[in-house]
Amino acid sequence: MATSGNHKKTVLVTGANGQLGRELRDLSANFAAYDFLFTSNEELPIEEKSSVDLFFDKHLIHYCINCAAYTAVDKAETEEAKAFLINRDGPGFLADACRKHHVKFIHISTDYVYDEGIRRPLKEDDALAPLSVYGLSKLKGEEAALQTDPSALVIRTSWVYAAYGNNFVKTMLRLFKEKESLNVINDQVGCPTYAADLAAIILKFVGAMESGKKYEGIVNYCNDGITTWYDFAVAIKEFVDSPCIVRPIPTSQYPTPAKRPKYSVLDTSKIKSTLAPDIPFWKDSLHKCLVLLSKQG
Ligand SMILES: NC(=O)c1ccc[n+]([C@@H]2O[C@H](COP(=O)([O-])OP(=O)(O)OC[C@H]3O[C@@H](n4cnc5c(N)ncnc54)[C@H](OP(=O)(O)O)[C@@H]3O)[C@@H](O)[C@H]2O)c1
Repeated sequence: MATSGNHKKTVLVTGANGQLGRELRDLSANFAAYDFLFTSNEELPIEEKSSVDLFFDKHLIHYCINCAAYTAVDKAETEEAKAFLINRDGPGFLADACRKHHVKFIHISTDYVYDEGIRRPLKEDDALAPLSVYGLSKLKGEEAALQTDPSALVIRTSWVYAAYGNNFVKTMLRLFKEKESLNVINDQVGCPTYAADLAAIILKFVGAMESGKKYEGIVNYCNDGITTWYDFAVAIKEFVDSPCIVRPIPTSQYPTPAKRPKYSVLDTSKIKSTLAPDIPFWKDSLHKCLVLLSKQG
């Protein structure tokens, strides 16, 4: 039986070496009221039920934030079994342990679960029709989490980037240095999300739950505003004042193994009316991240 020597609540963050996990790690320094347990893929492989159960038996946990995922969207098309193990079974095992141990489970999902045929901002209860193995595995993970633990909270987010890890922003910065010109897709519309903003929202949820508020089911979160990958790239180029020429191209000129939605704008009115009335505009958050990256050199 797990025990705790103090009265602080413990927050487990799985997949803690990823973009979101690293941002939560940074933010945790400002949350001294909680003890945090950050686990890597090696320390807590979420697709191993016995490891998950053992971990929850050993540690007294109050909140579990699952940032662990198989996120290689294109590779998932040929690694279906692995994607489903991590993205479907993993959240199911965590949800099961959370339910048994009375732990509040917060799971992260994606805009790629929605039906791309809807051409207006996507609401939590809109039709779902993932286009890719990754999207379907994440949808099955949401279902596994909520069916196993109906009190779980699933946060759907989109186009995540951070100063950490691999992402569009860092790829663009590298390519601006290496290339004289670059083609970027201009017919996929969505909302970027700075992982630091998402991390802050997740910890705001924890704080609100701690004060007795109840949040469960599905909620969307992304930064405010709408853009395309092309406009996103141009905003990055302008910030670093790169001479690289950025040209808009249609998706048909940049085929990828996994299909991406053409329209993937999340409606965030639910979270705005309940927890986060003021969501930062995507360009403001992008600038924050770019300032941080420029300081890192
Ligand atoms: N990135 C996006 O654009 C995006 C968009 C929408 C939603 N999301 C969702 O947001 C969440 C956070 O994404 P992110 O961008 O922070 O992802 P990330 O940077 O790829 O981080 C995922 C982390 O999960 C770890 N991991 C992989 N398999 C694992 C396993 N079996 N057990 C435990 N840990 C494992 C990875 O470790 P290794 O590096 O060692 O493999 C990595 O540290 C995910 O649920 C993702 O699906 C992301």
